[in-house]
Amino acid sequence: MIKRPRRLRVSKQIRDLAHEVSVDKSDLIYPMFIIDGKTEDIASMPGIKRYSLDDLPKALNEVTAAGVKAVLYFGIPKRKDETGSEAYNDDGIVQRAIRLTKELYPELIVIADICLCEYTSHGHCGIVGHECVVNDKTLPFLAKAAVSCAKAGADIVAPSDMMDGRVAEIRDALDKNSFENVLIMAYSVKYASAFYGPFRDAADSAPAFGDRKSYQMDFRNRKEALIETQLDIDEGADIIMVKPALPYLDIVKTISEKFSAPLAVYHVSGEYSMIKAAAQNGWINEKAVVMESLTAMKRAGAKMLITYYAPEAAKWLEEM
Ligand code: PBG
Repeated sequence: MIKRPRRLRVSKQIRDLAHEVSVDKSDLIYPMFIIDGKTEDIASMPGIKRYSLDDLPKALNEVTAAGVKAVLYFGIPKRKDETGSEAYNDDGIVQRAIRLTKELYPELIVIADICLCEYTSHGHCGIVGHECVVNDKTLPFLAKAAVSCAKAGADIVAPSDMMDGRVAEIRDALDKNSFENVLIMAYSVKYASAFYGPFRDAADSAPAFGDRKSYQMDFRNRKEALIETQLDIDEGADIIMVKPALPYLDIVKTISEKFSAPLAVYHVSGEYSMIKAAAQNGWINEKAVVMESLTAMKRAGAKMLITYYAPEAAKWLEEM
């Protein structure tokens, strides 16, 4: 007798009954850029905008109507300086966006990205001295930014800077300011990746000199991901993250098997733009490729999916 695993594929009904993993709307997190100025398109990310505060309510209306339950905010300030002061200005662009969002949609989960690169004149993720980022000097600034976003109403802060010790510093500052219930989603495993190219256009955050290889991870390394994640968990991270997504699914699998904290994966700007460009040329079926990609991230062990496709994916899930 021939063994027949094919029988489980015989009809759509049986395939749906037997399938192992699926994407759910509640997995999706939508990254959004908020600009102190007018709404602008982003040339390298068709379909994604930098929203002004005036246009944010309409955008949020669409996002929530699609069924997306969480957003991740990046602020683009009018004024940048050496220490990224707008990142921890209680009246800064991202703080105002958080307040507005919580007034309009109290149930929507607001995650504030915590980093200095969108706010510094040199575009690096920390305080610079002698042409290099000074880890320990940067920590208090990140903590101030996190507290400022928590004050504005953020449910979760997400440090993406990759300084050592920042999770402990942020946790301590949040607790001291009575924000014990604000979570930390740590970009634990963040590789120095060329896939962030379009984001740096979007956030106007390309470094003015050098690169980010002294603080982001070397993509030739796997074990380093375990060290970074363990440290973040020990320091108090509630949610851990791997970034980028598709080229790093081996890392997603390893981290999901070794650690019990909920795992997020960031399907980054370059990954979005590649699919978008091919789709616009009619070379691939956009919906099918996106759903296959997001499902692969879940299969590898991720729970939360941070993706610029979140609202579209939520609509497509409705149709499936
Ligand atoms: C800020 C930050 C970056 C991304 C998220 N937070 C850029 C970078 O590190 O250069 C990239 C996200 C994307 O490419 O979509 N440090």
